[in-house]
Amino acid sequence: MTHLFNTYNRYPIELVDGHDFHLVDRNGKEYVDLAAGIGVMSFGYHNQLIQRSVQAQLEKVWHTSNLYENSLQEKVADKLVQLSGGDQLVFFANSGTEANEAALKLAHKYTGKAKVMTFTNSFHGRTYGSLAVTDYPGIKQGFFVDTTEVVVADYNDPAAFDLLDDSFAAVIVEIVQGEGGVNLIDPDWLKELVFKTHDKHALVIIDEVQTGIGRTGKFFAFQHYGIRPDIITSAKALGSGLPIGAMIGRQKLASAFTPGSHGTTFGGNMLAMASTDAVLTQMTPDFLADVSHKGAMLISALKIGLVDVDQVLAIRGLGLMVGIQLAADLPVESIISDLQAAGYLTISSKHNTLRLLPVLVIDEASLLQAAKKISQIIKTKAEVLA
Ligand SMILES: Cc1ncc(COP(=O)(O)O)c(C=O)c1O
Repeated sequence: MTHLFNTYNRYPIELVDGHDFHLVDRNGKEYVDLAAGIGVMSFGYHNQLIQRSVQAQLEKVWHTSNLYENSLQEKVADKLVQLSGGDQLVFFANSGTEANEAALKLAHKYTGKAKVMTFTNSFHGRTYGSLAVTDYPGIKQGFFVDTTEVVVADYNDPAAFDLLDDSFAAVIVEIVQGEGGVNLIDPDWLKELVFKTHDKHALVIIDEVQTGIGRTGKFFAFQHYGIRPDIITSAKALGSGLPIGAMIGRQKLASAFTPGSHGTTFGGNMLAMASTDAVLTQMTPDFLADVSHKGAMLISALKIGLVDVDQVLAIRGLGLMVGIQLAADLPVESIISDLQAAGYLTISSKHNTLRLLPVLVIDEASLLQAAKKISQIIKTKAEVLA
């Protein structure tokens, strides 16, 4: 009998070890990891630099609280800011939803305003603030989430601009909607959104929890488009499996967060910081260029492999964040289980989409082999239906 709340539909696989981009289950079966623990394990398993950094910290203190000075946090914040634009301050939390809570609180406090605009198919987390700006009616049901100050506009639709006025504190948006179906932002719409939001004296919050830390081929996905957010949120791959979140806000917002205005016991924990430090060291221009290259290769291999399959409605992605949207008569979960049987781990996303978030250090040959297997499995299932 389980003593866990039944909040997850778990696959009947227990993953007990791994190396690089491979995972091994309790029966010794190997898998190529195209899910990365939902976009977390970008450097795979047993990355030497990360492992050594955490091991060194394990020999020292693990936690001291945020009541004391912390040069490791300062060092990691400095690296993060250098990679994020250069004029920011960081608040460390423990997860994506907490990073977004901090962002929303900062935006309200700084602007003195209540309203927030969010978008269709957005996902920002499951605590009350983040949940209120998440467009998944199902996961809000029964929780009395207060959405009175939230406006949901259509993603990529210029009609959103007409809904903005001076009563807004912030707009929160993803550059690629990961949970929402791997939906890519329209770059012109994004630029106009930033302009119009600033025109109404509101802040632009870019949620990079899933898109950040190299996933799309830039450190943060917004860096593809030359915009300047007021607040960036990060988590997932930032700590390579140790719980960490970060809210990165422009210096001009500093006055709104003063001692006592926000906090967390574990945020910026030493072990998570040691891991993050080693993650950020590996975020080099060459690494990011390699992700872009492999991403383009994967998308083109899938497009070729699935070219005449009617049940494939779209293949889209940026870097190594890729979605294959399937017709309703080809359930994504059946593809995921066939891929598991063939030794590939993948996940789903909204609108019957197969989502691929491979470990970023996967090699080209294995990625091409994965594309071939995915195409083969989708084709075979589609032929059975025809
Ligand atoms: C874009 C985005 N924001 C926020 C979150 C929430 O992050 P966490 O699960 O770490 O709270 C997620 C999680 O999937 C996400 O994809």
